[in-house]
Amino acid sequence: MNLVKILKDNKQSIIENTVSWIQLTYPSRTMEFDKCTRDIGYIYDAWLYDLENNSTTQTQSVTNKFWKRGTSQLKTTHVELLAYDYINTLINDIHPSNEIDNLVSITKHNILNPPVFATGAFDYSTANRINTYNWTDQIPDQVLIDDIIQGIHDFVPSKQRIVRYNIRVIPAYKMPNLRQKIYQGTKAEPSSPDSRYNPQVLAPYVIAIAPKVTLAVPHNKDYLMYEAGVEIGLAAMFISLAAPAVGLDVGFCACIQNEEDMIKDIGISPKLYLGIGYKSDDVKYLCPVYNKIVDIPGSDYNQKPSIEEYVKYV
Ligand SMILES: Cc1cc2nc3c(=O)[nH]c(=O)nc-3n(C[C@H](O)[C@H](O)[C@H](O)COP(=O)(O)O)c2cc1C
Repeated sequence: MNLVKILKDNKQSIIENTVSWIQLTYPSRTMEFDKCTRDIGYIYDAWLYDLENNSTTQTQSVTNKFWKRGTSQLKTTHVELLAYDYINTLINDIHPSNEIDNLVSITKHNILNPPVFATGAFDYSTANRINTYNWTDQIPDQVLIDDIIQGIHDFVPSKQRIVRYNIRVIPAYKMPNLRQKIYQGTKAEPSSPDSRYNPQVLAPYVIAIAPKVTLAVPHNKDYLMYEAGVEIGLAAMFISLAAPAVGLDVGFCACIQNEEDMIKDIGISPKLYLGIGYKSDDVKYLCPVYNKIVDIPGSDYNQKPSIEEYVKYV
């Protein structure tokens, strides 16, 4: 009989058998047996997909999720590795197969090793989109920036295709006075004399975005600003994923104290800046306001609420 059919027919019993084995052999490993069953099921389905399509990509993609931004999501790896050996044995007892051996071996490899994504893959962009605060001196090729901007025009949706924002592309690396003014406007706590600033905007390129709200119907201002805000978010998300796809890094900064004053320099009153360049691993930078070396802001300082707190399935 065909291997895929056998694996489909035996899916539930193989997974249940494996979870019971974990429960019996390593009783303190987990109490979340539903989650464990679900996760083994995802991987099992990936193997089925790859067997049917003569590929390994689905197994690669699903097992890459053992990792998030270079950090393993598993508390320990020992039991996981044994559990996948166990499943492999169960399958081989029914129907020996080199293909399954290979997919299990990819799974075990990816339990132990962080994923290596193909540059440009969506997974690569999402894993590499981190808020960037420090930059090397390397100037991105302008064609890379032009492509990202063209991509906004070509691919980012806009209700009725109105495009409710204006964008300015600022090659800040060759405009020191403008760069200084942008930076000075990003004081995090304006009333505090020694407040930090936002070095995201010291990137070689800064993209400034402002809502475009024509007040033909003034009483609708809140709704128009809401629409513009949604669309700015879409454009910003596009930039932040398109940039890593070509090896660039992005830093968001919405902390802008001098937005009205910026009109005379760039023609818009920006609500959001995105610095673009190449990330430096230095955790300190030269602050051009205090004129001294200071720490970059910590991006892990704020933590998201748990997913269950804000996502509910209805
Ligand atoms: C719209 C937007 C505006 C942001 N503005 C600032 C800012 O002004 N200053 C800052 O330090 N970080 C800012 N951030 C960065 C977030 O705080 C950051 O995304 C968060 O610390 C999590 O880090 P991560 O993006 O690397 O996951 C902004 C992020 C977004 C999406």
